[in-house]
Amino acid sequence: MTIIQRAKGMQDVLPEDRRYWDLVIDTAVTLAQRYGFQRADLPILEYSELYHRGVGDASDFFVKKETYDVEESEGVSLTLRPEFTAGFMRAYIQNGMASWPQPVKLYTIGPAFRRERQQAGRYRQHSQFNCEIMGEIDPAADLEVMLLAMNLYRELGYKGLTFQLNSTGCPACKPIYVEALTSYLARDMDKLTVIDQERLRRNPLRILDSKEPGMDDLLASAPHIIDYLCTDCEDHFTELRGLLDALDQRYTINFRLVRGIDYYTKTVFEVWAEGIGAQAALCGGGRYDGLAESIGGVSTPGVGFGSGIERIILGLEEAGIQPPAVHQPAVMVAHFGGATKTAAVQLAFRLRAAGIGTRLAFARERRSLKSQMREANKQAIQMVLILGEEELAQNVVVARPLDGGDQQQIPLDEVVTWVKRAAAVP
Ligand code: HAM
Repeated sequence: MTIIQRAKGMQDVLPEDRRYWDLVIDTAVTLAQRYGFQRADLPILEYSELYHRGVGDASDFFVKKETYDVEESEGVSLTLRPEFTAGFMRAYIQNGMASWPQPVKLYTIGPAFRRERQQAGRYRQHSQFNCEIMGEIDPAADLEVMLLAMNLYRELGYKGLTFQLNSTGCPACKPIYVEALTSYLARDMDKLTVIDQERLRRNPLRILDSKEPGMDDLLASAPHIIDYLCTDCEDHFTELRGLLDALDQRYTINFRLVRGIDYYTKTVFEVWAEGIGAQAALCGGGRYDGLAESIGGVSTPGVGFGSGIERIILGLEEAGIQPPAVHQPAVMVAHFGGATKTAAVQLAFRLRAAGIGTRLAFARERRSLKSQMREANKQAIQMVLILGEEELAQNVVVARPLDGGDQQQIPLDEVVTWVKRAAAVP
């Protein structure tokens, strides 16, 4: 019989990996709270229509047919969330958050699903730390989410970080730019690969992101969107840049930065880190002032970002940044079966109730002390409490430190206080 394997593109997070996850999540949560964000958790499954209308059918994961769809009933389809922003805007509208004090600042951490082609740093289930500010047009809100993302990577110890920044305009100015870009590229249609010709037809902005051969040269003199912004978008962009300058935050204006999702208006940004290979973007985000209307709500501006936790961890591992060790019990209770086992179970129960991390030796039958000590040596145990028949008769335990120190007898009813003091355990 073949052994069943993990599904393609999925990952097991084992205890060693989990140390990194805890470090990233703890740092992210602390920062999110410091910036005044509150946590909300939304469903993993939403009506497919939310994504088709919200993020738009020209978004990468629809074009590449990467969503996981489930037929709920005839004509009703659900989709495993490929991203979080559309769900947040749906929740804002459905829960009447417009009547809450504005803006509403929410964060979440959880899995998202995209049936991506297998490659390093890209998984079919990935987890995002996602932050959104809804109900605010102030460019200072754009700055806030950008800084939250950047400071997360800084606090984790990343070096070589840069903001990549662009504006994608709005429905008033974007079409004028798209027309200019299209007519610029149409002159060299024969130089475009079939893939790029298709992109140009379907979603011309995405061509800026093309990695096809020859495109770097061809795009070198292409028109830049920031020369086509309307007054509103230009003012927004200028103010955001001014705020970044005032904080001495360096950024690169990257006119080829267009994101794989369609709802963006005005600001788009990524944070890039050196040394994490092809997947240099640690996060992606921007403003989505038209999203609420596209899913049936009243006009509500919003800005946010999503950062893949696996990708942050890849960079930490490559940089040799070590997370703290996993917290493990420092005390183990050893016994020899029968009545000593019952007493050992009771002692472990008392120690744990007093907040002392305790490992209990398991044995269906009498087990040698040597085997139990071997087990303790393989763990982070500092002290083994041995309960034999003789000790039980005298109402004591033998406490044997693993650092080579002398063992001693402790009265059973004093053992909790003694362990707290002697083994320096919490
Ligand atoms: P996104 O750029 O598609 O944007 O994804 C955000 C981040 O999620 C990426 O920068 C990357 O770190 C991570 N990510 C995405 N796909 C994968 C994958 N297949 N494997 C590993 N990591 C991945 C969004 O999803 C937007 N909703 C972000 C946003 C929030 N914009 C405004 N608010």
